[in-house]
This record gives sequence, structure tokens and C-alpha cells, in this order.
Amino acid sequence: MNLIISQIIEILHCCKVIVFSLLSEIDFQFDTIFADPPYFLSNGGISVQSGKVVCVDKGDWDKGISSEEMNVFNKTWLSLCRQNLKDNGTIWSSGTYHNIFSVANCLTELGYKILNVITWAKTNPPPNISCRYFTHSTEFVIWARKNPDVPHYFDYQLMKKLNDNKQMTDVWRLPAIAKWEKSCGKHPTQKPLALLTRIILASTKPNEWVLDPFCGSSTTGIAANLIGRKYLGIDKQTQFLEISKNRREELNSQKRVDLYRSKLKDIVKFSQREE
Ligand SMILES: C[S@@+](CC[C@H](N)C(=O)[O-])C[C@H]1O[C@@H](n2cnc3c(N)ncnc32)[C@H](O)[C@@H]1O
Repeated sequence: MNLIISQIIEILHCCKVIVFSLLSEIDFQFDTIFADPPYFLSNGGISVQSGKVVCVDKGDWDKGISSEEMNVFNKTWLSLCRQNLKDNGTIWSSGTYHNIFSVANCLTELGYKILNVITWAKTNPPPNISCRYFTHSTEFVIWARKNPDVPHYFDYQLMKKLNDNKQMTDVWRLPAIAKWEKSCGKHPTQKPLALLTRIILASTKPNEWVLDPFCGSSTTGIAANLIGRKYLGIDKQTQFLEISKNRREELNSQKRVDLYRSKLKDIVKFSQREE
């Protein structure tokens, strides 16, 4: 099958305006939302990268805040997203223990219905240099639907096929971000395309619209476009939107598209089904 690459990638630039006010100005309802919000864990922690001890702070946007502030933040964006989501639509939000319990509580309070909590088990986690507790090797992705009473879309058969014809579980063993995904510059918390392609394949049909309110380098958009879905991303940092644009421009090269698709096992199997 010849996959359609959507020409539509619109990136809204909201340098000074925070995402909240911008979302309410978008008079459109999306089929699916993926959000990778700040986890608020930048508190001067350290790790080892290429044999060197480095500070793992991500940026001012990720600085720790109180749990009350975090709840207000999460409730505000999740409430605005709900208005921009179709009645049968679903939302995904990533997180670690720092923020994910707050996200889960806010989802429930706002009337969403939680469908799954995916555990992304990283096959190549960074080491824990303190040796005082277990190595952190997981992130979570909550999947919820807007409306408890309106059925949502789930490509059960495809997920089964991707899992060697066994039911796909809520534990996904996928590697952390690879070097080839950073060809347009570095975002400190860039998600791997393998994670986003699986999420979008599971919950959308071809040509549907995906929103990412904290898009960073637009991994969501690149994954969406690689499998023929449309995308709109929002971020408040200009330098991340530049990476997003450059990544989208890369997809103008069919050679690059073919290369990326060939590196993503789920897309390879999905394409076999479509042939
Ligand atoms: C965890 S990162 C997302 C990374 C993205 N998933 C990727 O693969 O590149 C969160 C992003 O949210 C943005 N951000 C933080 N606060 C924001 C706000 N209030 N409005 C819009 N964007 C915000 C940051 O600039 C950052 O790029």
C-alpha cells in the first residue's frame, strides 16, 4: 500500500501565550490527543551520559512546582483539551510518578474514562549512578476516552498483529530515543517515534486529526504524517518549533520517509497488512 503523507502540518507558535488560552481559540475538535506535558522533575538531578556525569534538568518549563500547582496546571490543560476532542475521541498523556497520579485524578474529575495505563518499559534505560535504589526504566501513558458512554475507536486486530498474533498487553517494551531520530536538533525530552506510531495506529483511522498541546519537536506529528494522519502541534518555545518544522521538511524527501518507516517495526507490519 502506498501510505499517504499528509501535507498538513500546522504548528502554532505561541511564544508568550500559554497553551491554555490558545486551545480555547481553536474552533475544531480532534479525533485523538497525545500530550507529553511537563513532568516537573527538573530539580538539579544527575545522570551518566556517554560516561560523563551530567545534570538532567530539562529547562525552566520543567522546574518542580508544588502538588497544588501541578493539579491546577493539569486540570486546566485537560479541561481545555476536552473541549477540543470529539465526543468519541480519546486522549493519551505520558508521565512518570512525578506527575502521572495528578494527571489520572484530573482526568477522572473532569469526566474522562480511563481505558488503560500503558507501561513503557525502556529496553535500554540510563544507569542509576547513586546505586541507592532501582534503575528507573519506565514511563506511563494513560489512555482515556472523553465520554464514558460513547464508544471509542481501537484497532484491536492491528495491535494483535503487531504482537505476533497475541493480544497486545499494556506493557510495551520499546527502546528509548535513538540517534537517527535527532537529525534536526535536540529536544531534551523527545519521545521515540516507535511509541507515538503505536499510539496513533491503535487509536486513529487514516486521515484523522491528532492534536499535541505540548509538541516539543513534534514527534507526534512526524509519526502521524508517516502513517497518513493529520496533525496540529502547540509549544511555547520557539527553538522547539524550529526543530518541528525541520523534521517536517525532512519528510518532503521520499527517501527519508522510506528510511524512517523501515526503522519502525510497527509501521513495517502495518504496511504488510495494507498491501
Ligand atoms: C515533555 S516536552 C514534549 C516533548 C515532545 N513529546 C517531543 O517528542 O519532542 C514538553 C513540552 O511542553 C512545552 N511546554 C511547557 N509548558 C508549556 C505551556 N504552558 N504551553 C505550551 N507548551 C508548553 C515545553 O516547551 C516542551 O517542549
